[in-house]
Amino acid sequence: MAISRTVIFGQGKGGVGKTTLTTNVGALTAGDGLNVLVVDLDQQGNTARDLGFEPSDGEALSRALITGTDLPLLKDVRPNLDVVPGGPAVGDLAGYFSSRTARGGSDLADILESSLGNIADDYDLIVVDTPPGDRMVVEAALCVGTAVVIPTRMDEASIDGVTRLAERFVAVSTRNPNLRLAGVVLFAIQSRVTRLERDVRAALEATLGQAAPVFETRIRHLDSAAADARRQGLLVHELEQAGQAAKAARFAALRAGEKPVDGLYATNTRGLAEDYQALTQEINARVAEIEAEILVVAP
Ligand SMILES: Nc1ncnc2c1ncn2[C@@H]1O[C@H](COP(=O)(O)OP(=O)(O)OP(=O)(O)O)[C@@H](O)[C@H]1O
Ligand SMILES: [Mg+2]
Repeated sequence: MAISRTVIFGQGKGGVGKTTLTTNVGALTAGDGLNVLVVDLDQQGNTARDLGFEPSDGEALSRALITGTDLPLLKDVRPNLDVVPGGPAVGDLAGYFSSRTARGGSDLADILESSLGNIADDYDLIVVDTPPGDRMVVEAALCVGTAVVIPTRMDEASIDGVTRLAERFVAVSTRNPNLRLAGVVLFAIQSRVTRLERDVRAALEATLGQAAPVFETRIRHLDSAAADARRQGLLVHELEQAGQAAKAARFAALRAGEKPVDGLYATNTRGLAEDYQALTQEINARVAEIEAEILVVAP
């Protein structure tokens, strides 16, 4: 059964923006004053890079899921934003739970549902980052969510990944009938590819039908900001401020006759920050619609 206001970011292909969207959408929503929980179910634990906290080995999360005890929480990673950190040990869960369910024990989805369910009331929104592979973990996440957001780049392999996620979605639909596809996000899109973008949008809409619109907002391509964000552990909207501070530090160094140090690669992140702001609004509006739909359908 679904836990309300829980959004799963999933895609069968790696490197398409799942983690970047989870952390940026989560943090922007928290910035609006809502209580947000980021759950990292990936053994890569990349939410640590985006949010700038010390990476976890994933042992605490893995142990909590195996023993059915409280999930590990990093509190106040940003104002109103807590994190359940992932890490390498999460990669062992599939092996452990396949033998446990073969012996008739409860499966990963059951445990995730009860442990996340225990703390869900503390949050207005839960965003879940999932791995590109690791089918059991992805399906467990889909079993507890109400909405799925699928990011994609525009190459064929990424679009195949959308289809793979859609198949996972169908596979869990009897177990979690409340789960809805919120939509597809076009990620890291170059400007001047208007025709390609139009064709990709049409192809995605033909594949997914009415079930999942392609969000109007797309995230523009900006390598320099992506590199800065992960090097500094800052979200995109935080980079702009950091850029101004870096500029001031450069001038101060020049005035003092010292060699200025270049802290950041990106010189203008405003447009990208605006993309995230607009996308966050679109996603949250769609999640609200989905929640209202579920309430109507529920007995
Ligand atoms: N606006 C952008 N333009 C170009 N590249 C970007 C942008 N934003 C992020 N990236 C880069 O895209 C890559 C993939 O991002 P991300 O880690 O969010 O994908 P993912 O789907 O979570 O990957 P994985 O499946 O490996 O977990 C990263 O190297 C990141 O730095
Ligand atoms: Mg990731």
